[in-house]
Amino acid sequence: MAIYFNEENRHFYLESKDVSYVFRINRIGFAEHLYFGNRIGRENMEYMQSIGAGSTYAQMPGERNQCYSFYNPEICFYGTGDYREPTVMVKNPQGDRLCRLHYIGHDIIDTKPRVKGMPSLSGGQTLILHLEDELTRFGADLYYTVYEDAPVIVRRIVYKNNSQNDLILDRAYSFALSLPNKDYDILTLCGSWANERQMQYTKLNRGVVSIDSKRCTSSAVLNPFIAAVSHGTTEEQGEVIGVNLVYSSSYILKAERNPDGKGMLCGGINDFDFEWHLAPGEELEAPEAVIAYSDKGLGEMSRAFHDVYRDHLINPRYVNAKRPIVINNWEGTAFNFDSQKIIDMAKAVKGLGIDTFVLDDGWFGRRDDDTSSLGDWFVYEDKLPGGLKPVIDAVHENGMRFGLWFEPEMISEDSELYRAHPDYAIGVPGRVRCTSRRQYMLDLTRKEVRDYIVDSVNKVLEENEIDYVKWDYNRNVTDNYSLELAPERQKEFAHRYALGLYDICERIVNGNPDIFFEGCAGGGARFDPAMLYYFPQIWTSDNTDAEDRTRIQYGTSICYPLSTMSCHVSAIPNHQSRRSCSMRTRGDIAHLGATGYELDTTLLTDEEKEAIKEQIIAYKEFSHLILSSDLYRTENPFEGNFFGFNIVAKDKSEAVFTCYRRHKVEEQVKFVYPRGLDPEKKYYIPERDVTLSGATIMNAGLQPWYPHTDFASYVFHFKEVK
Ligand code: GLA
Repeated sequence: MAIYFNEENRHFYLESKDVSYVFRINRIGFAEHLYFGNRIGRENMEYMQSIGAGSTYAQMPGERNQCYSFYNPEICFYGTGDYREPTVMVKNPQGDRLCRLHYIGHDIIDTKPRVKGMPSLSGGQTLILHLEDELTRFGADLYYTVYEDAPVIVRRIVYKNNSQNDLILDRAYSFALSLPNKDYDILTLCGSWANERQMQYTKLNRGVVSIDSKRCTSSAVLNPFIAAVSHGTTEEQGEVIGVNLVYSSSYILKAERNPDGKGMLCGGINDFDFEWHLAPGEELEAPEAVIAYSDKGLGEMSRAFHDVYRDHLINPRYVNAKRPIVINNWEGTAFNFDSQKIIDMAKAVKGLGIDTFVLDDGWFGRRDDDTSSLGDWFVYEDKLPGGLKPVIDAVHENGMRFGLWFEPEMISEDSELYRAHPDYAIGVPGRVRCTSRRQYMLDLTRKEVRDYIVDSVNKVLEENEIDYVKWDYNRNVTDNYSLELAPERQKEFAHRYALGLYDICERIVNGNPDIFFEGCAGGGARFDPAMLYYFPQIWTSDNTDAEDRTRIQYGTSICYPLSTMSCHVSAIPNHQSRRSCSMRTRGDIAHLGATGYELDTTLLTDEEKEAIKEQIIAYKEFSHLILSSDLYRTENPFEGNFFGFNIVAKDKSEAVFTCYRRHKVEEQVKFVYPRGLDPEKKYYIPERDVTLSGATIMNAGLQPWYPHTDFASYVFHFKEVK
């Protein structure tokens, strides 16, 4: 059992192999946080009550004992002496915003129930703590899930209206997690299009650090991830508490430090432009927050997220299945192709080891550029006479499976769909809508619109032999408004968009279990755990330049496993950066994930084809490690001239270490010190034809023989010798 309740002191102990999470129900009946960190004993932790300067706080309701003004809540509510960020704000019928959530009972269940209509993690023993306001009967069920072998707690809250009146939620976060009075920095992953998930640190001073999205997507701008890291934390040392939201719409994550120095992390659905009506008997389920603990630096936190996502989030059918090695035509042709061009491209890669041809944007409606046809999911016969079949047949003849691009959530003004149903586009009647990439978005809050999307996409999938789908999303929501929601419910739009998105994913992705679905959002603008539930891999960035990719992939690996990152070799000079990296470097960096190629294959020289063939042979030899290994990051490209990933088998019997040097002139002789090997094991290193112990490799290091250029890479293989 991983969850214990001590009835005498009303302490809850949530335990996995390495961590403990302890809270109690205090005398007032509030849930009081006591501890989250390395595994400790099941002791009475009442002694942790703190006493401070009374004037900062009011007493707790009905209390004279000052201790309770300083208690660390498991959920914060407004209108008491607790002035921290409330976790929930509820508007009562008489207009007041007070609630006091008292413990009324709990359940411990062996396996976690799914969140209704939303992606969530599987399995794990779960505590459901029932809290209720005595006066209004507004309730909150706090869910805590524990996995025996992961330093992770999964939390969420279900808000319940048990009263006889309508209630309105102005805020309904997923969790609040108290932090001790220590100096933390806050790590977030920020970015923009073609520059996703860059590591950013902010000092947690007194006050609030807040990141959010108001875009109805998790966004390239700030990933739904926040971590409190102790000062000076490295990959291997320091305390880290990381939180990742299983959510794809407008979210908020905050870190707060109070006047008394204690801290808190909290967040969930963004309460900006949010309001949720709860009729008597109704509930609102907040999305899950995955909370990982490490006292051994960022590396261990990342490995905890990677493991828990592979074990409990990503579709089990695909999590360990070898990923398709694709050729995608987008950077090669953009919209300028016809059947013959695609057939020629497929022929050109025959025998190179590529197993899937993905036909990207431009095959449908009358789509010659980005001004038209989104929503018209029928074949553009002028480009593809006779439909997709001749192209698919040619792809099959050349030994590959076939993949197709869709952007299901979108509508072009110049489309048959828009001409028939202008009201399907999100917007306020009578007001000119904002375009972005010259397109509008479909109103996924409406069932009729969702049904159209599901039927039209599924029709193409049913009528053709399609093994792979790339699901794109190239803009963010504006003009937030739903024709179907009553005026007083319009602030439910952003969350209802997420629920609509999950509904169409459920019906299209899970409805076609034999098709492999890749996620995409103008590159990596919707790279979040909720999307990983549907899409085992996501296009990491529209920026395929190997140098820029070292940072994008390093930042992405902070929470997400290598297998979830689609990484392609593209032509030079690179489309985004205009930089020219060698074929070898492009291959080595693109092979740190689900790999593929993205260029006009009809322009490949024989030499380049031979290089691709060899790269794919090499990739296939270690691609099983991309799926299930432990990642040890060494050199950090955000901090210096180098990059290093050691990808180590779970049993430590083999590893692949990829390293990279940005500028040749800096530190030409630089050793690398791969981590994560077994010090006792002996490893054969083919690149040096030598066998060394893990201890020697990790401590004495190795010198990569980089080519004498900028942007150079080198790969070492380590194979256990028994
Ligand atoms: C987005 C994707 C690209 C490509 C184009 C097509 O930008 O990220 O990979 O599919 O759309 O329009």
